[in-house]
Amino acid sequence: MTKKKITVIGSINMDIVTSTNILPKMGETVLGKAFHTIPGGKGANQAVAAARLGADVTLIGCVGDDIFGKELKQHLKQQGINVENVEPVTETSTGTASITLYDGDNNIIVVPGANYHVTPDYIEGLEKIIAESDVVLLQLEIPLETVERTVEIARRHKATIILNPAPIQPLSKELLSKVNYITPNEHEQEMLLTSFEWADEERKEIIKKCIVTKGSKGVSILKEDELKIPSFSVDVVDTTGAGDTFNGALAYCLSMGYELEEACRFANATAALSVTKFGAQGGMPTLQEVEEFLQQRGEKRK
Ligand code: RIB
Repeated sequence: MTKKKITVIGSINMDIVTSTNILPKMGETVLGKAFHTIPGGKGANQAVAAARLGADVTLIGCVGDDIFGKELKQHLKQQGINVENVEPVTETSTGTASITLYDGDNNIIVVPGANYHVTPDYIEGLEKIIAESDVVLLQLEIPLETVERTVEIARRHKATIILNPAPIQPLSKELLSKVNYITPNEHEQEMLLTSFEWADEERKEIIKKCIVTKGSKGVSILKEDELKIPSFSVDVVDTTGAGDTFNGALAYCLSMGYELEEACRFANATAALSVTKFGAQGGMPTLQEVEEFLQQRGEKRK
């Protein structure tokens, strides 16, 4: 079977991670535990998650013309991702994410830098790649107008479009009406459904597309009736990138023709494995690892 094509249009960051046992208050200095610089960015993470499972993945994005940019592009290439259209830009530096890791959880400050050079014009020049894609996967760490233009192009070419609305921001009805799946976490879902003024019908239409990732509470496919998929109990080391792993795996499964429920169960297991190791991409499993895990946990793929 020829591999289906997944195109991710999104951010590429260097994650600057400080692990600490104490969270400082404003104005306070504390001694931390460890410091690492590791590859991240929601776009890049989702591309890596899909590639680890064996998908044919193209990543479209921008890095700075600097050491982080070179390192990240090289790293993504080594993951088997097509990075021909990861463009180094000279005007600004590579995106960074300052991450504090505390008690297995995190908080993150992203400085988009080069990610904001992924412009609608840049994407228009790459229409052919989007036209050849079976699944197009987007997040919100690049300019919103770029996401909107990409969705228009992808829809015209009948790709399946997954929008991971992270970090959340106000989104237009037009945009949400054109995507096939929306994958918020609980906080993003709340913002999506309550902070905007939706008419009842519009609200229902959006809910039908939502797959909500809920961390240790699993995943909910909202559709007409909510379908809850429980999480797997694992030893959590680092939850950074769990949502990205879910999205990458979901894209992989949909490209392979899985039914939505089965795709979510598989993506849920993939995300569970990802949190057992350090770093956004450190724990992303291969296809074989997910299959073995599902077998160990008594779940069979249909
Ligand atoms: O979702 C996790 C990612 O968010 C991190 O890798 C960081 O770069 C931010 O984009």
